[in-house]
Amino acid sequence: MTGMIDGQGRQIDYLRISVTDRCNFRCHYCMPEKQTFLPHNDLLDYSEIALLANRFIAHGIRKIRLTGGEPLVRRDIEVLLKELGGHVAAGRLDELTLTTNGSRLAQFAPILAAAHFRRINVSLDSLDPETFRTITRGGDLAQVLAGIEAAVAHGIRIKINMVALRQENEAELLRMAEFCAAKGYDLSLIETMPLGEGVADRQDRYIAMDDFIAPLRERYTLSPLAHRSSGPARYWNVAPLGLRLGLITPLSHNFCDDCNRLRLTTDGKIYMCLGSSMHVDFRKAIREDGMAAVDTLLQKALRLKPARHDFERQLAEPDLRLARHMNATGG
Ligand code: GTP
Ligand code: 5AD
Ligand code: SF4
Repeated sequence: MTGMIDGQGRQIDYLRISVTDRCNFRCHYCMPEKQTFLPHNDLLDYSEIALLANRFIAHGIRKIRLTGGEPLVRRDIEVLLKELGGHVAAGRLDELTLTTNGSRLAQFAPILAAAHFRRINVSLDSLDPETFRTITRGGDLAQVLAGIEAAVAHGIRIKINMVALRQENEAELLRMAEFCAAKGYDLSLIETMPLGEGVADRQDRYIAMDDFIAPLRERYTLSPLAHRSSGPARYWNVAPLGLRLGLITPLSHNFCDDCNRLRLTTDGKIYMCLGSSMHVDFRKAIREDGMAAVDTLLQKALRLKPARHDFERQLAEPDLRLARHMNATGG
C-alpha cells in the first residue's frame, strides 16, 4: 500500500492538516473581522485525526504539515504533536512540520523539538510593530520575534512567510530579506489569493510577484536554485546576501502541475485543491463506517483532484468565488 497517484498522474505524498479554524490573530487577507467558528462537535478529535493520518501514511503520505487557523491555540495540541512525532521517529514520515503565526512559540518550542519538528514556517508580514499590528488586527510583533528565537534555540529551522501586500509591506521587502539573511532564516513571498468574502478589498492589495520583488532584483542578484521540491514555491538564491528565497505565485506563474498535496480540514473534509470547492467528507467514515470506507473515499479524492486552481475565473466571475476563508483549509 505505498504511493498515491492522482487522476492527473501526480504523486501525492503530502498532507496538510488544519487542526483548528481559530486564530488569536485575524490577518485581514485571511479572515474577516468577525468570524463564526465551527461548533466543537463538528471538529475531529485528536484520536480521529491520528487514525486518518495513520491510514494516509499507510497509503504513501511522507510529509505532514499542521496548519490552522493557528495550530498552537487548540487545547492540548501537544497530545497530537507527540502522536504524529512518533511516525517520524519510526521512519514512517520524512517530515512533520507546522505553519504558525509564532505567538505561542516561546511556550511550544521545546515540545515541538521533542516531537521531531525540525523546520517550521512562521507568518511574518512586517517588521514594523504598527504595520504588523494593523495587518494581524492586534498582533504583538515582539512576542512573535521572541517565539522565533525560542524555536531556533531548540534547533528548529525557520522559514518566514510574507504575503505580498501592495502599499502595505511593499516598502519593507529589502529590510525583511536582509533580516532573514542575517538570522539564517529562509524567506517565502506569497501572492495574496482570492479566498473568502472581502475579495474586492484584498484585490486592491494584490501585487504580482515580479513587481513586488523588483527592488530586490535592483540591489541583489537572484539565481534559480536547480533543486526544487514539489509544491508551490520556486526557490532562488539571493547573492551576495546568501538568502534562500521561495516565491509562491499562484496567480502570476502557475505551479499546479507539480502539486503533491491534499488538505484535511478541522471537520474532516479532504479538499483536493486550495483553489476549488471540491471536497470529500471523511467524518462519517472515520466515526462510523471504518477503514474500508476511508480507503474508498481516499481513492475518490485522488481521482477527482483538479488539475489546477480556478482563481483566475473566480476573479473574473464573482458568482464562482469561494466563500471559504483561508483559515478553514489552512492555506
Ligand atoms: P512546503 O510545505 O515546504 O511546500 O511549504 P509551503 O510554503 O507550501 O507551506 P506554507 O503553509 O508555509 O504555505 C505558504 C503559502 O503557500 C500559503 O499562502 C499557502 O496558502 C500557499 N500554498 C501552500 N500550498 C499551496 C497549494 O497547494 N496551492 C496554492 N495555490 N497555494 C499553496
Ligand atoms: N493569500 C495568500 N496567503 C495567505 N495566507 C493566508 N491567507 C492568504 C491569502 N489569502 C498565508 C498565511 C500563512 C499561510 C499558511 O497562508 O500568511 O503564512
Ligand atoms: Fe495543487 Fe490546487 Fe495548489 Fe494548484 S492550487 S498547487 S492544484 S492545491
